[in-house]
Amino acid sequence: MKVVSLTAAALAGSASAHTIFQKLYVNGVDQGQLTGIRAPDYDGPITDVTSNDIICNGGINPYHQPVSQAVIDVPAGATVTAEWHHTLDQQPNDPTDPIDASHKGPIISYLAKVQDATDMDVTGLQWFKIYEDGLTVSDQTWAVDRLIANKGKVTFQIPSCIESGQYLLRHEIIALHAASSYPGAQFYMECAQINITGGSGSKSPATVPFPGAYHGTDPGIKINIYQTLNNYTIPDEFHALCEDLVFSATESRKSHQTSVNSCSDRGAFPEKKMMYQTTYDKRQFLLSSV
Ligand SMILES: *[C@@H]1O[C@H](CO)[C@@H](O)[C@H](O)[C@H]1NC(C)=O
Ligand SMILES: *[C@@H]1O[C@H](CO)[C@@H](O)[C@H](O)[C@H]1NC(C)=O
Repeated sequence: MKVVSLTAAALAGSASAHTIFQKLYVNGVDQGQLTGIRAPDYDGPITDVTSNDIICNGGINPYHQPVSQAVIDVPAGATVTAEWHHTLDQQPNDPTDPIDASHKGPIISYLAKVQDATDMDVTGLQWFKIYEDGLTVSDQTWAVDRLIANKGKVTFQIPSCIESGQYLLRHEIIALHAASSYPGAQFYMECAQINITGGSGSKSPATVPFPGAYHGTDPGIKINIYQTLNNYTIPDEFHALCEDLVFSATESRKSHQTSVNSCSDRGAFPEKKMMYQTTYDKRQFLLSSV
C-alpha cells in the first residue's frame, strides 16, 4: 500500500511540475522579476511544434498582465543568466522547483532581431541559436539536471559580433520524459526583450523560423530517453555562420566556457564540431566567421 501511495504522489507531482523563465541577469546583475520578460501565469508546456505558441508562448498560456514594457540593455559579449522557477508565485521548499527532476532534456537559446522588442507580434521572425546544452553522454546527465543543480539558473553569452539593436531572446527547455511518441516532448519557453549595445555587426547569422525550426520527427524531439544514449541530437542543427569554439579534447567544461569570448576564425570546423559533440554537451556559438 505504501508503494502505491508514493507512486501516486510522485505522478501527481510530476504532472504539475512545469516551469517558467522569469528573470534575467546581465553580467550578474539581477534585472528584476518579469522585467522585460513575457511570461504566462500558467506554467504548462507547448507540445505542438507547428503552433505559433512555440515562438514566445502566450497563446494557450496567456501572458501575465501587464506585460513588461522594459527592454533590457545587454552589452554585446555580456554574460547573461536566465532564471527558471516552477511557478510565478514560487513557494519555498517546493521539491519541483525549478522543475521536476523527471523533465530531462536540453536547454537552448535563440535571438531574433526586431524593430521594437515590445511589439507583441512575433510571427515571421527569424531566429539564430546562440546556446545549447544537451546530454553529457559520459554520465547521462542532461541540461535540466544542471539547471536543477544550479537552482534554476542557466548562464550563457550574448555574441559580440552581431549588430547592435533590439532583439527577442527566446530561452527554452525541452522536457523529454514523455517524448517516445509525438506529440509528447514538452516545450517550455519565454522571450526576453533586450537591446544589444556595442555589437560589432561584423557577422550575420543564418536563421530559422518558428514554427518551422522543429519537427515532430526530429531525433531530439521524438526520443525514448529511458535507455543509455550514445548521443543526443539537439533540435535545429547549428547553422554555422560563425563560430569560435576554442577547445580541445582535454579541456574541461569550465575552461571551455571561459574561452569562448573572442571572435577569431577557426578552420576545420566540421571536424572540430564532431570532436566537440563527442566530448562536450554544451556549445556556445559565437558569431565570427562565415
Ligand atoms: C538601445 O541602446 C542604445 C544605445 O545605448 C540606445 O540609444 C537606445 O535608446 C536603446 N533602445 C532601447 C529600446 O532601449
Ligand atoms: C546515436 O545513438 C543511437 C542509439 O544509441 C544509435 O542508433 C545511433 O547510431 C547513434 N548515432 C550516432 C551518430 O552516433
